Amino acid sequence: MSGSVITVAMPKGRIFGDACRLLRDAGFSLPVTFETTRKLILDLDTAPFRFILAKPVDVPTYVEYGAADIGIAGKDVLLESGRDVYEMVDLGISRCHMAVAGLPGHRSKNPYLKIATKYPNIASDFYRRRGEQIDLIALNGSIELAPIVGLADAIVDIVSTGTTLRENGLVEFDRLMDISSRLIVNPVSYRLKKPVIDEIVEKMIRATEGTKVGMD
Ligand code: PRP
Repeated sequence: MSGSVITVAMPKGRIFGDACRLLRDAGFSLPVTFETTRKLILDLDTAPFRFILAKPVDVPTYVEYGAADIGIAGKDVLLESGRDVYEMVDLGISRCHMAVAGLPGHRSKNPYLKIATKYPNIASDFYRRRGEQIDLIALNGSIELAPIVGLADAIVDIVSTGTTLRENGLVEFDRLMDISSRLIVNPVSYRLKKPVIDEIVEKMIRATEGTKVGMD
């Protein structure tokens, strides 16, 4: 962990735009090139902040190991990874939900339900709580393919607009949990840099007020 510079791990890809907008609303003057650059480490000229741009699924790892002091990560990624980080703020951005989905009317011929997912821990936990034994098939993406081609009986995956399910003729069977992005903090950083991290947390809470409209 570097001196008094605060390193922020940002999720590249789909939720990056939402995260940048929120940081700007919170008063961080991110350069206009922030969203377009291919650089993976970006320093702010105006404040002692360094941003590292990581794959969303890796953000909790950078924060747990202290390579970043704070980060922005989806609740899905946090639940799945079980990383030892403080979850400080529900940012209310990149909202979606986790669901079980499959072909309408599908009946399994397998001794145990075959469930395809990129969230093996969340899926196992869900079926364990229901007292059902499953065969887990771990995939890395395009999960919706699995029931269509007969690889799995159902999937456990995130649903955002519902377009991917709809366009592939799948339906939701169960809704597991609501998901949104969270501000996470490394526990040691929090001890060592509490005043400045508390200030960031406050600014982010204020900036998220607009994102919470309509939340349960
Ligand atoms: C996610 C998720 C679904 C899709 C849901 O995949 O796994 O496939 O988005 O979004 P929708 O409800 O708005 O259609 P992602 O785009 O991250 O890519 P992946 O297939 O590589 O996992």
